[in-house]
Amino acid sequence: MKDFDVSVIGELNIDFILNQIDSFPEIGKEILSRQMNVTLGSSSAIFASNLSSLDTKVAFIGKVGQDSFGELILATLKNKHVNTDAILRREDLKTGATVVLNFGEDRAMITHPGAMEDLAFTDIDWATVGRSRHLHLSSFFIQKGIRKDVPSIFKKAKEIGLTTSFDPQWDPGEEWQMDLEGILPYVDIFLPNKKELLHLTGHGSLQSAVRHIKSLANTIVVKLGNEGSALFTPDGEVFQPAFLNTDVVDAIGAGDSFNAGFIHKFVGGHPLPACQEFGNMIGAYSTTASGGTGAFSAGSNIHQNVKERFGYAEKQHD
Ligand SMILES: Nc1ncnc2c1ncn2[C@@H]1O[C@H](COP(=O)(O)OP(=O)(O)O)[C@@H](O)[C@H]1O
Ligand SMILES: [Mg+2]
Repeated sequence: MKDFDVSVIGELNIDFILNQIDSFPEIGKEILSRQMNVTLGSSSAIFASNLSSLDTKVAFIGKVGQDSFGELILATLKNKHVNTDAILRREDLKTGATVVLNFGEDRAMITHPGAMEDLAFTDIDWATVGRSRHLHLSSFFIQKGIRKDVPSIFKKAKEIGLTTSFDPQWDPGEEWQMDLEGILPYVDIFLPNKKELLHLTGHGSLQSAVRHIKSLANTIVVKLGNEGSALFTPDGEVFQPAFLNTDVVDAIGAGDSFNAGFIHKFVGGHPLPACQEFGNMIGAYSTTASGGTGAFSAGSNIHQNVKERFGYAEKQHD
């Protein structure tokens, strides 16, 4: 028996979310936002927190500053029962932070990476990884300190018997340089969204992008926004439409919540289409409240909520 179902190696930051903004900001002018939310940000932390809210045992490996934002992140993760023993603190660095300007389903963001890009291969607590059944890594491009070591990290995780998943996320530099040959063979579940996959492969369509990486990759799951997701395995391909939410509060963390739903089922030993369906469900659920973790507040019964709101029943693919 392992202590943790999933270890996450990832970036940590705070999100300042500004809603109800009248117009786009302009240099030299001031506009108002009528609603504000300060909450746990970063793809990896939203994934870890929501996965833990689904009753999966999660440990986090990362780095924050010795400041009040760092305290807030640690307290928030602990409150969600994520193990934070392997999160390092650096006095000389700021905890990462993102300012999010929300306009309907779209958003503009500015990030100060701070300690996020300082996490290095030598910071990884392999004892914690070894106490886990599965390793997830996200935000490849933001995590500059471990980027070049990602192939070794996944290789090592496989060698010590873990299953693995990887969400590349957006490249803020828009250069899209990644060693797909070195990484994908050691990733069991590859979880890009469609735009990211097209950029990473340099292809113009989903089908040709998937063909390009098929011989390297194992399972590929492509997130398609409010259209749903597509699953590609050696056995074939499964498209599943979204549990459409026409009343989106914001789409922050929809992809990370999708990952949480998918990996929750995956480590529970369910068939891949059932993992995909639950990913779609949890992605949709995350759009019903503000921020990446708003829908997953303590005490809320997620399984009951998705039944009531979306008619989700654990049957279709199980
Ligand atoms: N408006 C929506 N209604 C229902 N589900 C949605 C909606 N937007 C996103 N989702 C779900 O969340 C998943 C992830 O969203 P997506 O925007 O593709 O990811 P990312 O946040 O990584 O860009 C989608 O695959 C879908 O299942
Ligand atoms: Mg994403």
